[in-house]
Amino acid sequence: MDIKIDVSWSGISKEGIEVHAKGVEGALDKLWSGKESMTGWVKLPLETGPDQLEELLNTAMLIQNQCEELIVIGIGGSYLGTRAAVNALVGYDEVYGTGVPASRYPVIKFAGNTMSAVYLHKLQEDIRTKEVCLCVISKSGTTVEPSIAFAVLKEALIEKYGREKAAKRIYAVTDAEHGVLRQEAEAEGYVSFSVPENIGGRYSVLTPVGLLPMAVAGIDVKSMLAGAEAMATSPVWDLDGTDYAAVRYGLWQSGKVLEIFEYYEPQLEFFTEWLKQLFGESEGKEGKGLYPDSLRFSSDLHSMGQFLQEGNQIFFETVLYVEKPSRDLQVPAAAGDLLAGKKLSQINQAAMEGVAAAHYAAGIPLIKIGIPEINAFYFGQLIYFFETTCAITSYLMGINPFDQPGVERYKEEMKKKLLEL
Ligand code: PA5
Repeated sequence: MDIKIDVSWSGISKEGIEVHAKGVEGALDKLWSGKESMTGWVKLPLETGPDQLEELLNTAMLIQNQCEELIVIGIGGSYLGTRAAVNALVGYDEVYGTGVPASRYPVIKFAGNTMSAVYLHKLQEDIRTKEVCLCVISKSGTTVEPSIAFAVLKEALIEKYGREKAAKRIYAVTDAEHGVLRQEAEAEGYVSFSVPENIGGRYSVLTPVGLLPMAVAGIDVKSMLAGAEAMATSPVWDLDGTDYAAVRYGLWQSGKVLEIFEYYEPQLEFFTEWLKQLFGESEGKEGKGLYPDSLRFSSDLHSMGQFLQEGNQIFFETVLYVEKPSRDLQVPAAAGDLLAGKKLSQINQAAMEGVAAAHYAAGIPLIKIGIPEINAFYFGQLIYFFETTCAITSYLMGINPFDQPGVERYKEEMKKKLLEL
């Protein structure tokens, strides 16, 4: 395991961690037993060999040759993992404009994650003016937001290319047998992939749900799976890998209700969105769970920094720190003596250590997670690390991490309202 977990600032002692050793071990046994439902993701990195990936990689290449833009339609677990990976590893972002698309590969845009007509209008215009393909991802095939986006964008695609040619530009990832999207994919002849039945949305990023669009974006998905496999088979799970889960549980027991994921590289912004879904949907049940939130540093230090330092201490902080950023920069002399000549990596490090020292002195528990660098291999490790630790803490809390009855409930209520329109 290359990710470094430092819980020495968490306020939970070695003995405090040890108390949960049996519970952690039991949770790991349960996950690896193969008997628990929806735990297909546990052995997935070990079971997905190069042969299984061949069809997916060939399809990705086909899409790369077919279009300059791929619109990925999906929401929740059918969206956030891909978006996290694209933002971290390809580096462009239509919101913040960080970097430029890698020119060899299609630009990836996302739809079906809001009900914004403004945004869909822009994508319709893209279809009119560029070579575009659609990748529609929905395990159930019935989720409202992606259904709307798919209907709107498919119509634009058919208008431009005609029904038959449009079908060759539509790729579907959905349940192997059930749902309207599966039926449509079969009837219209879309190239399609399946979401394994025993893997739920937020644990599905290393299935075709995430791997297909990532491969189109030029991300090395083999390396990502290798990273996840290295994590899955790492003996360090017996040591500090699982400390994170035990410490989170200990902090929750001590009355903390919020975990704030903090990052210093904007590349990790959507990774923390993925984390929020993973932890929020897995743990937030039966009145239990840690509410996950995220802050982007150093920007948010100039807003939320005050609350963190002196506000209501209902939270603890989990700092995601990239040891070797993909680019560095030396500050020019014009910035003044304190900063001139120093590298941004050094200044970020000083900020991270300074913030940690100030918050720790104020009694705030901190967990530090060191990421050697942002690449596909470590990204795979991170995915697997958080999926497993989230499942462990949920089990310790006595919660089933793999259902989401609350999400289903709002969907049902919304459908009733739609029928009244
Ligand atoms: O984690 C989950 O199960 C959910 O967030 C789903 O991924 C989300 O609701 C989208 O569902 P679907 O893929 O069926 O469209």
